[in-house]
Amino acid sequence: MSEKTYKVGIIGAGVMGDRMIQAIANHSRYQVAAISDISEERAKEAAKQAGDAAWYTDYQEMLDDMHIDHVYLAVPPKHHHPIALEVLKRKKHLLCEKPLANSLAEAQEMLEAAEAAGVVHAMHFPMYYQTVLPQMIARLPELGTIRRIDILTHFHQWPRPWQQAAWLAGREQGGFIREVLPHFVHLTYALFGDLQVIRSDVDYPADPEACEIGVAAYLQGPDGTPVTINGLAGIAHQEHLDYRIYGTKGTLSLVNWTNLHFGKEGEVPQPVTIPLNERLIQLLDEIVKKMNGEEARLVTFDTGVKVQKVLEDLLGKA
Ligand SMILES: NC(=O)c1ccc[n+]([C@@H]2O[C@H](COP(=O)([O-])OP(=O)(O)OC[C@H]3O[C@@H](n4cnc5c(N)ncnc54)[C@H](O)[C@@H]3O)[C@@H](O)[C@H]2O)c1
Repeated sequence: MSEKTYKVGIIGAGVMGDRMIQAIANHSRYQVAAISDISEERAKEAAKQAGDAAWYTDYQEMLDDMHIDHVYLAVPPKHHHPIALEVLKRKKHLLCEKPLANSLAEAQEMLEAAEAAGVVHAMHFPMYYQTVLPQMIARLPELGTIRRIDILTHFHQWPRPWQQAAWLAGREQGGFIREVLPHFVHLTYALFGDLQVIRSDVDYPADPEACEIGVAAYLQGPDGTPVTINGLAGIAHQEHLDYRIYGTKGTLSLVNWTNLHFGKEGEVPQPVTIPLNERLIQLLDEIVKKMNGEEARLVTFDTGVKVQKVLEDLLGKA
């Protein structure tokens, strides 16, 4: 008997929508049935790329017209909440981009709606589906007592050259705190557990509409482990992301998403070679398992709510 192919409806045909179209093209269990974007040009172009899928400028029409098993929601953050509620009302499985929402209250409502709908709900935190994470987990016992975790996110240019959308530059839903820090907040959660924001100083430019240009924050992990965040945008230094765990017996750092470095006592951390996998394919595989009622390794909306709480505290305690 042939296996079921799941029909996906993509809402938002921007940078991430395009990446998902590529991933689905390489996955045997999925097919892009339809694409919706408020820009007709983008919707049409993406539908063509996806092998002449149907296209819509109104996602509600897409949801009503088409047979869709599963929605991938990749619109800017302030649109996640209203669209997700419509998707969940129709009891479609939902993969939502990070951050889950634009506020903690919205995120909580989305979680409640997903649970009430009884569908598979998942989020796209690429590092969780990347081979780097198990490599990091395997090395934690070699680090001794963890003294501190330092999260550094520096950007020469914000928004980054490959993601030039106006919403990313605005204070309402953009900025690197909402756009990039969720990945590292989630990574910390996946490695150690819950995080609590103790202090956060956010640096804003004079333009009241423009997003932050800096953040210096102090958080605590479980058992009070100190976690610092050092974020800057608009500096001379090229983009540099460094997630570093300092232990008494070893240091582990993840540089620019995938470059892992490890060093024992007194050593300079050295690169660790890791075969990288196709993260989106891995995520899609896990969703198939969950839709089939099997055990699956997914980041669900409940974790998205925890990450949202940290973001809200980082932004709100300015
Ligand atoms: N997981 C990751 O690694 C990762 C990386 C980048 C972005 N993201 C997230 O993905 C989401 C999308 O980011 P992006 O970079 O693709 O943005 P983008 O600006 O490139 O694309 C967003 C698209 O959504 C469309 N859109 C806006 N409002 C809409 C609506 N109401 N209905 C339908 N379409 C609408 C826009 O026209 C645009 O084509 C954001 O939440 C972002 O934070 C995740």
